[in-house]
Amino acid sequence: MLLREATEPVNLSGHEFKKGSSFLISSYIIHRNPAFFKEPNQFDHTRFSEERAKEIQPFAYIPFGAGPRSCIGSQLATMEAQLIISTIGKKYHLEMVANHHPVEAEPLVSLRIKNGLYMKVHERKQ
Ligand code: HEM
Repeated sequence: MLLREATEPVNLSGHEFKKGSSFLISSYIIHRNPAFFKEPNQFDHTRFSEERAKEIQPFAYIPFGAGPRSCIGSQLATMEAQLIISTIGKKYHLEMVANHHPVEAEPLVSLRIKNGLYMKVHERKQ
């Protein structure tokens, strides 16, 4: 959730809000809105390829928030994720264990997988 507070009265989509009104914005819901993403529940990393990323409307993909209070660590976090995934993926192949409990989202401060995700680690042959 992102939180914003109106510093002055504002009209949003025909609704009047007083100064001091609070707004909770769910990036989770926005990222799954079929108005912005085709098959929004489908994992499809090609949405973010160089060509297709241009199709994404402004503010439709906001994992790090937006505007002057957006995340100052976004570039570090993105680089960290790329390094971690590529370092692990180069050496190991991860396979979800058989008979895994259903994979469920657990929204806390950040979004996690409820009761974890158990994987078998296979070393890749070089
Ligand atoms: C995957 C990792 C991360 C995610 C998904 C994330 C996400 C976010 C989001 C959604 C916000 C609120 C933005 C808004 O209200 O518009 C935020 C704020 C912030 N993040 Fe991150 N963040 C991540 C990593 C980091 C890292 C690595 C740092 C520091 C090195 C960091 C520092 C901050 C700070 C200081 C703010 C507050 C900025 C402000 O209020 O002006 N974050 N982050």
